[in-house]
Amino acid sequence: MGKILVTGGTGFIGSHTCVELLENGYEIVIVDNLSNSKEAAVGRIEKISGKEVTFVKADICDYDALSEVFGKNDIDAVVHFAGLKAVGESVRKPLEYYTNNIHGTLVLLRVMRENGCKKIVFSSSATVYGMNNKAPYTEDMPTSATNPYGYTKVMIEQILRDVCVSDSEFSAVALRYFNPIGAHSSGLIGEDPNGIPNNLVPYIAQVASGRLEQLSVYGDDYDTPDGTGVRDYIHVMDLASGHVCAIDYAMKHNGFEPVNLGTGKGSSVLEVVAAYEKACGKPIPKRITERRAGDIAICYADASKAKEIFGWEAKSGIDEMCADSWNFTKMNPNGIN
Ligand code: NAD
Ligand code: WQD
Repeated sequence: MGKILVTGGTGFIGSHTCVELLENGYEIVIVDNLSNSKEAAVGRIEKISGKEVTFVKADICDYDALSEVFGKNDIDAVVHFAGLKAVGESVRKPLEYYTNNIHGTLVLLRVMRENGCKKIVFSSSATVYGMNNKAPYTEDMPTSATNPYGYTKVMIEQILRDVCVSDSEFSAVALRYFNPIGAHSSGLIGEDPNGIPNNLVPYIAQVASGRLEQLSVYGDDYDTPDGTGVRDYIHVMDLASGHVCAIDYAMKHNGFEPVNLGTGKGSSVLEVVAAYEKACGKPIPKRITERRAGDIAICYADASKAKEIFGWEAKSGIDEMCADSWNFTKMNPNGIN
């Protein structure tokens, strides 16, 4: 089938995608600097898949380390997850975000070029739809950003577009993820953020497990059915299978292709809380607070392009996503160690 380099492969989405790639017959090499993940994820990926994984602890900004990986392995394509992803932190540390995400991607693309590797699947984000478009978002809408994290995604998409123009054999699929949640059904891998979670479901998970006291619901005065923010939550295993489709697509087509990975359906904060309460069998203490700066009311995908070009669509609903998140949380009270 081929050998895939997975940057950021020990992280949340990367680890689930590694399982899915291995189960679809791909060999994988993971490069991760472990800045936001643990090496123990490698053993768990191997346990679930029953296959061996090559792991290299390295930074994608390290040209020599990446060159060595390409020298030792015949890499057919890259799935590029490695990046910093906290919106608020990116406002406080713009240089770190631009260096890690953009410089890291440039080093990776240079090493790919030097080794004749011309296929990449990149982790973009629904954040590139910015504040000026209206859901459902379609891939032809203009992109923009409101924070350094978002700008790194907008800029990397542009870099990939330009590389595809410069080399007609190059193929880049930018997957625009909506809100990935959930975990592998084994409970062996899942989302294990450092510190206090920024995102809704990891926060709820820590309230459910007693590590945090109560959830702050950021605003109930939005123009939505129950007043709370609406997002397109997608099961991380659905997202993972979307990457296998994207790799298969990149192997057969050239050029730049942005593709939404979402369910096409929105859920409110209160709907997610209710689904999580059902999953864990206890109430989630919560209070309504002010809106969070930079949040929009409604964000969900038009998911038709992925269906059309990959034959992919999300299968899981919000109840299954919350059940799998809770299963992982219960099985890993101290995260992945
Ligand atoms: P994550 O933090 O769990 O995974 C990212 C991984 O990359 C981590 O294991 C981290 O150690 C590694 N990494 C970071 N910088 C690196 C570097 N310079 N060199 C080597 N490794 C490095 O995050 P995730 O949720 O799995 O996200 C994966 C990708 O998807 C990111 O690019 C993120 O921006 C993007 N994305 C995530 C979401 C989301 O809500 N989780 C949504 C849209 C897009
Ligand atoms: C979801 C909803 C909040 C936390 C972020 C990034 C985006 C992408 C995905 C990377 C919103 C509400 C949240 C809490 C709450 N990541 N909320 N209490 O903001 O849609 O997207 O992650 O690309 O770029 O911005 O996700 O999970 O933070 O919030 O009420 O403690 O939950 O207001 O309506 P968001 P989220």
